[in-house]
Amino acid sequence: MANNRKIIMDCDPGHDDALAIILAASEMSPLKIEAITTVSGNVEVEKNTLNALKVCDVLDLEHTPVAKGADRPLIKQREVAEEIHGETGLDGPALPELPAKEPAEAHAVDVIIDKVLNSNHDVTLVATGPLTNVALAIKKEPGILSKIQEIVLMGGGTFGNWTPAAEFNIYVDAEAAKIVFDSGVPITMFGLDVTHQAIATRELMDRFGDIGNPVARFAADLLEFFLKTNEKVFGLEGGPIHDACTIAYLINPSLFDFEHVRIDIETKGEFTYGMTVADMSGVTGKQPNVKFARFLNRDGFWELFSDALKSYG
Ligand code: BDR
Ligand code: CA
Repeated sequence: MANNRKIIMDCDPGHDDALAIILAASEMSPLKIEAITTVSGNVEVEKNTLNALKVCDVLDLEHTPVAKGADRPLIKQREVAEEIHGETGLDGPALPELPAKEPAEAHAVDVIIDKVLNSNHDVTLVATGPLTNVALAIKKEPGILSKIQEIVLMGGGTFGNWTPAAEFNIYVDAEAAKIVFDSGVPITMFGLDVTHQAIATRELMDRFGDIGNPVARFAADLLEFFLKTNEKVFGLEGGPIHDACTIAYLINPSLFDFEHVRIDIETKGEFTYGMTVADMSGVTGKQPNVKFARFLNRDGFWELFSDALKSYG
């Protein structure tokens, strides 16, 4: 199991982002969530921020700061994924209209910079939405580069889900992704190749619901909506809980197999914008910049997830 780590969760909750937060905040997680920062992605950043605050309510994370970030990609038009996450970005579970706490006054980018600069090289950025905030933080304060322990992100893959070539998080802001992938910070990437090995089925959803505590019920309600939209839009038999892979890795890295590869982000292609071009056979001769997750121990992953839900009492 991994050692204790401080993490900042930069996200766009989002059903699978919420499931990642549930995993990170559970009793059996050694991780300390320093802050949750939000970005425009699955829906607009205002909605993603409200959702993050509501998730904090469900999980009793009253002391975890939630900071609102970028409301659009660096250059291109905003694009959202309402067909997957619903109009609120977190359709399905019954949640109160208004969260108990307010977002932090500081902008997400400044929260990231502040937490990293004041750390002891021990803050990991977990990015499960478009990489706009992370790129802005790098550009605003390059001094954070040498202090980030690792960027663990969900995005990309050797195939796409938003275009034939691109995965949603990278496609939404490929210019930001390019800044992050070229930054020199150690990157561990959970792309579609591996997140499509973490497909929650109805059977799993029922198993989680049967655990019976309110958080497990919340997770099952999230899955109920998420499974339906993934089945409808992508024709999958269930829903890949992409973002939760990042946290599962931080809790137990041995659940995954990795390869070190060079990945460049396509920002110019007519048909390939947002593609994570992976040099799997080493033809570029460039130094690898990414620890690329290839395989998941599925049984171990679901066991971890189920133990996390049980730990909520
Ligand atoms: C990614 O896109 C979002 O809809 C999910 O939350 C995940 O981060 C998967 O392509
Ligand atoms: Ca996400």
